Amino acid sequence: MVASEVSPWAKTGGLADVTGALPEALEALGHRTTIVLPRYRGLDALGTPGPVETIRLGRFVHDVRFVVADVTSDRRVVAVDAPALFDRDGYYGKSGIDFPDNAERFGILAAAALHFAETHADERPIDVVHAHDWQAGLVPVLLQTEADAFPRIRRAGIVFTIHNLAYQGLFPREIVPALGLPWSVFAIDTGEFWNQLSFLKTGITYSDFVTTVSPAYARETRTQTFGAGMEGVLRARWDRYVGILNGIDTRVWDPATAPLLPAHFDANDLSGKAANKRALLDRFGLARGDDALARPVIGLVSRLVEQKGLAVIEAASEALASLDATWVFVGTGEARFERFLREWAARYPARVGVHIGFDEALAHLVEAGADLFLMPSTFEPCGLNQMYSLRYGTVPVVSAVGGLDDTIRPYTTRAQHANGFKIRRLTPESLVRTLKQAIRLHDDRDTWLRLVRAGMAADHSWETSAREYVKVYRRARLDAVRRTAW
Ligand code: ADP
Ligand code: GLC
Repeated sequence: MVASEVSPWAKTGGLADVTGALPEALEALGHRTTIVLPRYRGLDALGTPGPVETIRLGRFVHDVRFVVADVTSDRRVVAVDAPALFDRDGYYGKSGIDFPDNAERFGILAAAALHFAETHADERPIDVVHAHDWQAGLVPVLLQTEADAFPRIRRAGIVFTIHNLAYQGLFPREIVPALGLPWSVFAIDTGEFWNQLSFLKTGITYSDFVTTVSPAYARETRTQTFGAGMEGVLRARWDRYVGILNGIDTRVWDPATAPLLPAHFDANDLSGKAANKRALLDRFGLARGDDALARPVIGLVSRLVEQKGLAVIEAASEALASLDATWVFVGTGEARFERFLREWAARYPARVGVHIGFDEALAHLVEAGADLFLMPSTFEPCGLNQMYSLRYGTVPVVSAVGGLDDTIRPYTTRAQHANGFKIRRLTPESLVRTLKQAIRLHDDRDTWLRLVRAGMAADHSWETSAREYVKVYRRARLDAVRRTAW
């Protein structure tokens, strides 16, 4: 596998959680994986780099060293050490602006990963190469257009997974010869996208099989509304494009044991959840008398970007602050949303708590201490937080898109198996309306506990999804045999 983030070593979002957990789930099914990521600043704990090896990609030449860490005998993590490219503040850019050399950085990542697979693997064959998101989007292209350079792995099946179509890896056309790619890569049915080269589109068009992270998003992305301009190319791959719902790491996200939590609990004994609620209110300096404890806490942990519904929250913020609830928001992202949240908290200091920053322990505390968890995304390929919430007995309030739609069964007076609330057609008004309904139901303790327990009982572990990936790997492998037969 090749990816730009792998938990717990490098993470800004859900991609890392997936690439961290999927190899472990595959291992449990008897498979071996090596996952390659950049050695960003601060990744020293992985180990010391090996000898220098030269990686060439068009006019870019870099001396890299590989840090190889065996997590288990069947699971290996490899970090590509190239300080000129990766030893920086930030993975993709600084202050919201992409680094100008991202094509070179992630092009070299792809080339280095293939070089490693070709030269460092042990005696067992490599059956599948699995690339994630645009940052690994050159892997499929290089493996096909430079197959002769990779005699050992050229017959591997190629799988590409889309975690988010909004990030497309777009670069000016001049990058094509600079990367040493043939112009055939720059065609309407390959990597060309409105006269730019898209690493995402090359990933989609040069792999044997394409997956995304929920069945609903796989359907949605075939349409203009959600396809971000890629709907045509995804429709063209209709018989080689499926959605596989992400799982969650049930050992990391276990309310009975998570070391990051001040108190533990499970579905039979929820008293620890109340202790987490107190700790959470304390942590944010919010009121925590009996009144406050009876009132629902509504949490949000998120990248602060348009996708996550921040603009809708902002538009509704006055009405939200007047509801009988307490708010705790944790996130980093676009300056305008960080500013809005800071100002909102300053206006309602007793009711609204905000932490701007990336903080794993705090994410666990919010999931555990809140009563409701808010995810009003405008689109959501899968979303992991709603599944973490379910497991932590916190009821999700989500918009009806993508993986949120697939995982949340909305409460209606008749729903037996409901586990959350759904906002149909996201607007500031529908957001407020759904939250009012949820806050009202919070007072109905029996019904509420039924919702909480339904969420906690569900199994979102990786096993089922890992089996789906194995099926895809087998099909891709067969396709590759056919593709390379001549
Ligand atoms: P996305 O990948 O689009 O950001 P997901 O719901 O799939 O959305 O995954 C987000 C992951 O990142 C979750 O594990 C979430 O807890 C974590 N996360 C996001 N923002 C923060 C933050 N500020 N601090 C800690 N964890 C965060
Ligand atoms: C992306 C998506 C998110 C998904 C995650 C992991 O960041 O935005 O919905 O859960 O990838 O696949």
